[in-house]
Formats: sequence, C-alpha cells, structure tokens
Amino acid sequence: MRIGVPKETSAGERRVALVPESGKKLIQAGYTIAMEAGAGDAAGFSDSAYREAGVTIWDDPAALLSSADLVLKVNAPSAGDGQGSETDWMREGAIYIGSLMPLRNLEAVRALAARRITAFSTDAIPRTTRAQSMDTLSSMASISGYKGALLAAAELNKYFPMLMTAAGTVPPAKVFVIGAGVAGLQAIATARRLGANVFATDVRPEVKEQIESVGGKYVGIELAGGVSAGGGYAKELTEADQLRQRELLAAQCAQSDTVITTALIGGVFAPRLITADMVKSMKPGSVIVDLAADGGGNCELSRPGERVSVGGVTILAPLNLPATMPLHASLLFSRNLTAFIQAFTKDNAFMVDLTDDIQLGSVITHEGAVKHQRTRDALQKVAT
Ligand code: NAI
Repeated sequence: MRIGVPKETSAGERRVALVPESGKKLIQAGYTIAMEAGAGDAAGFSDSAYREAGVTIWDDPAALLSSADLVLKVNAPSAGDGQGSETDWMREGAIYIGSLMPLRNLEAVRALAARRITAFSTDAIPRTTRAQSMDTLSSMASISGYKGALLAAAELNKYFPMLMTAAGTVPPAKVFVIGAGVAGLQAIATARRLGANVFATDVRPEVKEQIESVGGKYVGIELAGGVSAGGGYAKELTEADQLRQRELLAAQCAQSDTVITTALIGGVFAPRLITADMVKSMKPGSVIVDLAADGGGNCELSRPGERVSVGGVTILAPLNLPATMPLHASLLFSRNLTAFIQAFTKDNAFMVDLTDDIQLGSVITHEGAVKHQRTRDALQKVAT
C-alpha cells in the first residue's frame, strides 16, 4: 500500500505529517512512502533524511496524490476549483488521515465525500486509553499551552519569578489560566517553571487535583448545572452558572498580571468569557494570551491572529501555535498518525474497519457519505 505525504499548503503552516523516524517504521510494516520534495524543510527534516529512511521524493504533488492509497496530512486537504486542489488530485476510494477539523472545514468534507474518500480526522478520535497514543489534539494542545505561557512572559512588563536582587526584591507575577485541559495544564506548568504565582479555573470539577499537581492553585465556583459532555469535553454553562462564573473571572482578572485562556466547548468552539469590562479592570502593562483564538477566542476583544492593545492591556490571540514549534509538533503528530496506522495494519495494508470504536469515532466520510453526526448536522445547518 502506498502512502503519500504532500507539503502543507495552509498559510503559515510549517509542520509535516510524517517525519523520517515514522517513515522507517511504516516501511518496515510493509508500506511504500512517497513525499513531496521539501515537505519537511520548514520543520527541520531534509529530503535526504527521508531518502535515508527509504522514502521516495516526488516533485509533483498532483502525481503524488493521485498515486497514493493513503494520504497523510496535518491540515484538511484543499478543496474547491474542481481541478487544481488536493481533493481533486486524490484518487477515488483513497484514505485520508489527518487533523481534518471537520466542523471548521465543511468545504473539504463535502469534497472528500464527493470523491468517495474515506477520511479519518485524528481530532475526533475517542478519548480512550487505547487511543491516547493517536491523539493529535493533545499533542498539539500541549505545545500551545507551553508556547502561550512563553509569549505571555515575553510580553509582560515585569518578571514572572520572584527575584531577590541587590536593588531589592520583586514579587512574582500573578498568572490566571482559564480552562485546565491539556493546553491549560501545560500553560500552568510552564508559567510555574518560570516562577509565576499561578491560579487556574475550569468548569469540570475533576481538574482541581490536576491543577494542583502541576503547581497551580485552583479557584472555582460550585456549578448548579451539569457541565461534562463526556470524554473530557465541557458543555456550555447554564445562564445562572455563567453569571456566577463571570463574577469569579472579573475578580481574578482584576488581580492578575497575565491571563491565559484555553476554554473550549466540545473541543471546538470558544465560549466568550472575558468581557471588555474585565479587560478594562486589568492593570496597564498586563497581558492576555487567548489560546482559544482558533475557535474564535475566549475574550470579547480578541482578534484572532492579531495583537490588540486596550487601555495599556495587550491581548494576543495567536493562531496555530504548534506551527511555531514545527520540529517537535511534527515529530509528535507523526508518531500519533503512525500509532493510528499501525493499530489497523494487516498484511502490509491499512484496514478500514468501522466496527472498531476508534475508527468509528474518527471517520468523517466513507463511500460517499458523511458518517460523523456533528459534521452532518453542521452541513445541514449551513444548507438551510
Ligand atoms: P478542550 O480543548 O475541549 O477544552 C479546554 C478546557 O476548557 C477543558 O478543560 C474544558 O473543561 C474547559 N472549559 C470549557 N468551558 C469553560 C468555561 N466556561 N470556563 C472554564 N473552563 C472551561 O479540552 P482538552 O484540553 O482537549 O481535554 C480535556 C480533558 O480530556 C483533559 O482532562 C484530558 O486529560 C482529557 N483527554 C483525554 C484523552 C484520552 O484519554 N485519550 C485525550 C485528550 C484529552
């Protein structure tokens, strides 16, 4: 079975879906692999490193994709004009595996279904112990949390740590992290390593211990309504709970030097949690890093991809932070994909088996149909 890996084409993307180490493993498992020339350059993996691993290098992405049985990508394939996009080049019945983010890429989903491609989205893989090694969302969220804390520290007008100097002692900065999932916990741990005094909140009660285990202090409210949507995902709060949470957030923001937000509903959409008034209550020189910018942002004043300054408070809403650390992002992403492929390889080929819970959870399109319920609902919504 032939695996094809094209160069990513999204603006600012520097990751690659397969690194040489994984290439070697998949070749040993019986696959042949073709990659587009220069696909790994921006992530620090040269064509010669791939060649040494046994991968062949192709110049023409159209020829590469049309000959592949299994296409590996970081992002959704391009779709649109009927002749020059990745979904047009992929052959009917091929398999795509990557971080499709179907709810944010409905156009690509439509094109994949029309081309009868079996598409697996690694961000829809169920959150089970067996699937942990395949979970690209976690690998990438951890990078965002780390990088988000570093951006905040670099932007803040003061030190993160307490410092005792000959000129006297300076107190540590106070960092407040909203949302303590994978990204939030890594942001807490990183800010702690830099010496800040870190407070954090989440709506899922089970995270209190996790926050404390990485050195943060939990702040939270007792919620009257249920919040867990299962699988580690949060639901939207009831209106009454939103009001009570807003009081907590207002008090914390006013006292914090840095706020890092990571809250997502269902792993996709960002609830608006920080109001313009909360921003105005912060000290000039403070920093907000909105890590939910890819999902629209947790702060009312965030502009995804831009830097905003309001009353001396800087709001950063960086997009696709994993692409800013492309070497480790690619390495981890590639290991996740490789674990997925290896789990379903039989007689040197990837077996589609939709009775398996991991495949069933992550399949988005198959045999011309959209199989993923939330994606089907979203497509119907835009059609009406
Ligand atoms: P996520 O990216 O969906 O959301 C980020 C965080 O925001 C979550 O902790 C969520 O509870 C929180 N949040 C949502 N609304 C909020 C609000 N109004 N205020 C404050 N916080 C709010 O979640 P993520 O990071 O992908 O994972 C969440 C959990 O799932 C983690 O505990 C993780 O360990 C678990 N997980 C398990 C996996 C597995 O077993 N294979 C794989 C991935 C995650």
